Amino acid sequence: MVQVKNICCIGAGYVGGPTCAVIAYKCPHIKVNIVDVNPDRIAAWNSDKLPIYEPGLEEVVFDRRGKNLFFTTEVEAAVNEADLIFVSVNTPTKKNGMGAGFAADLAYVESATRGIASIAKSSKIVVEKSTVPCRTAESMRTILEANSTGDIRFDILSNPEFLAEGTAIKDLLNPDRVLIGALQTPEDRKAQEALVEVYANWVSTDRIITTNLWSSELSKLAANALLAQRISSINALSAICEATGAYVDEVAYACGCDKRIGPSFLKASVGFGGSCFQKDILNLVYLSEQLNLPEVAAYWKQVVDMNEYQKKRFVERIIKTLFHTITNKRIALFGFAFKKDTGDTRESAAITLCKHFIQEQATVHIYDPKVSDEQIFLELTEPGLLDNTEEVKKRVIITRSPYDASQDADAIVIATDWDEFKKLDYTRIYQTMHKPAFIFDGRLILDADKLQQIGFSVHTIGRPA
Ligand code: NAD
Ligand code: UGA
Repeated sequence: MVQVKNICCIGAGYVGGPTCAVIAYKCPHIKVNIVDVNPDRIAAWNSDKLPIYEPGLEEVVFDRRGKNLFFTTEVEAAVNEADLIFVSVNTPTKKNGMGAGFAADLAYVESATRGIASIAKSSKIVVEKSTVPCRTAESMRTILEANSTGDIRFDILSNPEFLAEGTAIKDLLNPDRVLIGALQTPEDRKAQEALVEVYANWVSTDRIITTNLWSSELSKLAANALLAQRISSINALSAICEATGAYVDEVAYACGCDKRIGPSFLKASVGFGGSCFQKDILNLVYLSEQLNLPEVAAYWKQVVDMNEYQKKRFVERIIKTLFHTITNKRIALFGFAFKKDTGDTRESAAITLCKHFIQEQATVHIYDPKVSDEQIFLELTEPGLLDNTEEVKKRVIITRSPYDASQDADAIVIATDWDEFKKLDYTRIYQTMHKPAFIFDGRLILDADKLQQIGFSVHTIGRPA
């Protein structure tokens, strides 16, 4: 069996960075080089302010950096040194061409694969860490084999990542499972065993699942689709709750107590965000269509459609409640990240909310504890979001505290479930707002009764007004 002593990770993003930092942390005998084509990102990984915020990440990185963990743009040297290479590059939804809006853009995976083929001077285990459509490993193998010279051998494994942002380090240190897929040849099984050994340094072997390559690739898309489906299901029920007088949190609790259903991922919200759920489901929809399974494609597509409906429904509720107009009204938006404990804003529901508020000519005062001003403006001026980006500068103000954001506001909208929003001095906030003072809780995190006693008009997702 190959004993892995040197790992290279291509892609120093939300996955590559934390995942391989934890490997370095738990395997001091393995040297880990994390490479990226983006020199600014690498510089940030080598600085005191890491490029991503994750609880516990600094401790892990600062403990191993410069010892057995290195961040570098020297791709060639890192690839050559490595026995095992993780490909952890981005796989966004395609914007143009065939499959645009659905299929995964595999250009970065292909470029990383071609890079490995052209650089490698010895045999390597190449591991798909990125989330990819089923059978991508086949294309990777073909490219590697067609471009390799001499008797260099490439074994391809699939090792999808299941970490969630905000809990990445916790998830990596104590994963529910590690999944490693391989072709079923003796050589590929040896490579699979080598990666099992790496994880076995801290994960008990009953949690390391080995499967065939295609099951592993599909399990990643399936897991995200099933998780997102639960959110869309509870969000669909939240609409029924608002119309009937049922409380969605009580319904979720009652259902979740059934062991067969379970309590996780039944929190109604303004809609799921993040870089992966929508992308991976659309990817599954595209795959189903390619396999000539239109009914299957339509089934999964509905999960994304329901998510869009939830965001639209929430905006409509806000406008309707604010006397059918928000023109020139001031809205305090609490939270811009797609969930708490991260500074990531990709596909955040807050972006859609802002878009509608700006189109309705409200002013939006945003507060988020971890998202930078530049990042907010970058998202809101993304081509295709709003026709007139000048409006963004005119109508969006970023504030340093929730108290500043809500000063003279007509309404507070909770977009992200940051814990600090639960502990604010809402009596103080109420005093500084226009009356009637409205709160729209898109995350079901506030104590509605208490707020009502203060004087607020409270509107919670999944509860009647
Ligand atoms: P990311 O955009 O944060 O990071 C990807 C990095 O790869 C970027 O820094 C980019 O510069 C780099 N890169 C692209 N092509 C390269 C190349 N040829 N050589 C070197 N570097 C290159 O993306 P991410 O969020 O880390 O996601 C990576 C993959 O992991 C995606 O497929 C995603 O679906 C999957 N995933 C993400 C999460 C998550 O929570 N973000 C969780 C599980 C799986
Ligand atoms: C998700 C999965 O949970 C990870 O297992 C997976 O590895 C990852 O996608 C990925 O492939 O990228 P992530 O998107 O980081 O992780 O965060 P989640 O905790 O899943 O939250 C996603 C969105 O759903 C957030 O906007 C969150 O607020 C929302 N959500 C989550 C709800 O609205 N209700 C819930 O009950 C749970």
